[in-house]
Amino acid sequence: MKMQLEILLVQVLFAGLASAADILQNPDFESPPTNLTPNRSTPFVLLNGNNTIPGWTFEGTVQYVTASQTIRLPDNGHAIQLAQDGRINQTFAANGDDLIYILTLTLAPGGQNCSANANLVASAPDSHGVYSLKQHYGKETWESYGHYLGSWGQDEPINLVIQSQSTESDDNSTCWPVIDMLLLKSSKTLVQGNDNLLLNGGFEFGPDFLSNSTEGVLLESAPSPIQSALQQWSVIGTVKYIDSKHFYVPKGNAAIEIVSVSAGIQTATTMLTEGSAYNLDFTLGDAKDACEGMFVVRVQAGSLVQNFTVQSLGTGSAIKHSVTFKAGSGSTPISFISYNINQTKDGVFCGPLIDDVVLRASHGFKLQLRLEILIYALVLVAIL
Ligand SMILES: *[C@@H]1O[C@H](CO)[C@@H](O)[C@H](O)[C@H]1NC(C)=O
Ligand SMILES: *[C@@H]1O[C@H](CO)[C@@H](O)[C@H](O)[C@H]1NC(C)=O
Ligand SMILES: *[C@@H]1O[C@H](CO)[C@@H](O)[C@H](O)[C@H]1NC(C)=O
Ligand SMILES: *[C@@H]1O[C@H](CO)[C@@H](O)[C@H](O)[C@H]1NC(C)=O
Ligand SMILES: *[C@@H]1O[C@H](CO)[C@@H](O)[C@H](O)[C@H]1NC(C)=O
Ligand SMILES: *[C@@H]1O[C@H](CO)[C@@H](O)[C@H](O)[C@H]1NC(C)=O
Ligand SMILES: *[C@@H]1O[C@H](CO)[C@@H](O)[C@H](O)[C@H]1NC(C)=O
Ligand SMILES: *[C@@H]1O[C@H](CO)[C@@H](O)[C@H](O)[C@H]1NC(C)=O
Repeated sequence: MKMQLEILLVQVLFAGLASAADILQNPDFESPPTNLTPNRSTPFVLLNGNNTIPGWTFEGTVQYVTASQTIRLPDNGHAIQLAQDGRINQTFAANGDDLIYILTLTLAPGGQNCSANANLVASAPDSHGVYSLKQHYGKETWESYGHYLGSWGQDEPINLVIQSQSTESDDNSTCWPVIDMLLLKSSKTLVQGNDNLLLNGGFEFGPDFLSNSTEGVLLESAPSPIQSALQQWSVIGTVKYIDSKHFYVPKGNAAIEIVSVSAGIQTATTMLTEGSAYNLDFTLGDAKDACEGMFVVRVQAGSLVQNFTVQSLGTGSAIKHSVTFKAGSGSTPISFISYNINQTKDGVFCGPLIDDVVLRASHGFKLQLRLEILIYALVLVAIL
């Protein structure tokens, strides 16, 4: 136990963000392809061997898209449609050692009245994510997703590939995905601090937000907390990563809103001492997004499982809760799962908000910790 205490005392929170804003070239496709012949009667222009997209290489059937009545885009500008066998790629250089790269991508349906929407696949050497428009969560036709890309050493070349994936044998009635607004964010590996036994308990480390979007960023199921766009948390079902600029966020710049049934987030820690008591503090509430309802959130901390009710009027509210539990042997799971969700009057899927999750040794333990610091200090003074 002393060993663990010492580790806790010595290690200080060191979590920094590096700017990756300029790593990708032409991430919003606003630099138009070369030799483009615009066609006033259609928002799509098919690219051929005479075209190049600045910053990108393309293959297969790829069209340059201009926002219109039928194709809505977050910046009202331009995007790329990846039709049959369509694929774009760009190689960027990792700009630091041990940085984690998280991608935010925006996906829009490339047509109307289709029998199916083809999927979009985003991949890099360490990751592979499939995104679809099968389920619609927000009020816009497009949706933004967070995607864990990977972690590489300084100057390592990373080939980011985005391609379409057909879901039907009849490709003629398929709507092909439109991709826009790729935001790449890098962040340092998180290190344990002494104010919280959980890493990223405030959810500050996740994908970048589109600066003008009121839609948040969707996070799809991620079984591994390491390979997750929400650092250190695995994602069950679909949750929404929300920003304080457009939502009510109790603490810091970001929080989680659960937007699908039986969905949530989960982490685990091996830092606890078997038999010792710990407090798990957390905030539940509503994100001020007109979401009404009574939600039941299942909170698990080790072997303790308890339900909490969130009464939401959709006007922005939060209540702090705390549970005390005794750590068992091995890894201690911590999770928040919502049994139910609802939809706003606009049809936007919504649910309970979670923020500011803090795990600490319970009071008695803390006293003991202070005492040990005192003893160490006295010993140090005596030696000097
Ligand atoms: C413009 O688009 C329309 C409709 O897709 C097509 O019929 C026409 O041939 C196109 N014009 C040119 C110059 O490509
Ligand atoms: C490329 O441009 C040349 C000259 O304008 C034209 O002859 C050729 O057909 C174009 N190639 C394609 C694939 O459209
Ligand atoms: C955000 O909105 C402002 C004002 O409407 C606009 O000037 C700006 O270009 C937008 N930014 C992006 C990234 O779309
Ligand atoms: C795209 O990938 C190909 C290999 O598949 C590579 O030759 C090319 O350089 C890549 N393009 C960019 C812009 O990274
Ligand atoms: C889709 O269907 C609607 C209603 O049936 C129709 O008004 C619209 O023109 C169709 N759009 C396309 C692109 O076919
Ligand atoms: C798709 O359309 C093309 C050309 O319009 C046609 O040749 C092909 O047979 C169609 N495929 C199917 C599966 O309907
Ligand atoms: C779901 O939200 C609607 C308003 O959008 C509200 O009238 C309804 O009571 C809510 N349902 C539940 C079960 O809370
Ligand atoms: C929590 O609520 C769910 C759904 O209402 C119920 O099925 C479950 O038994 C409850 N669990 C506890 C520990 O009370």
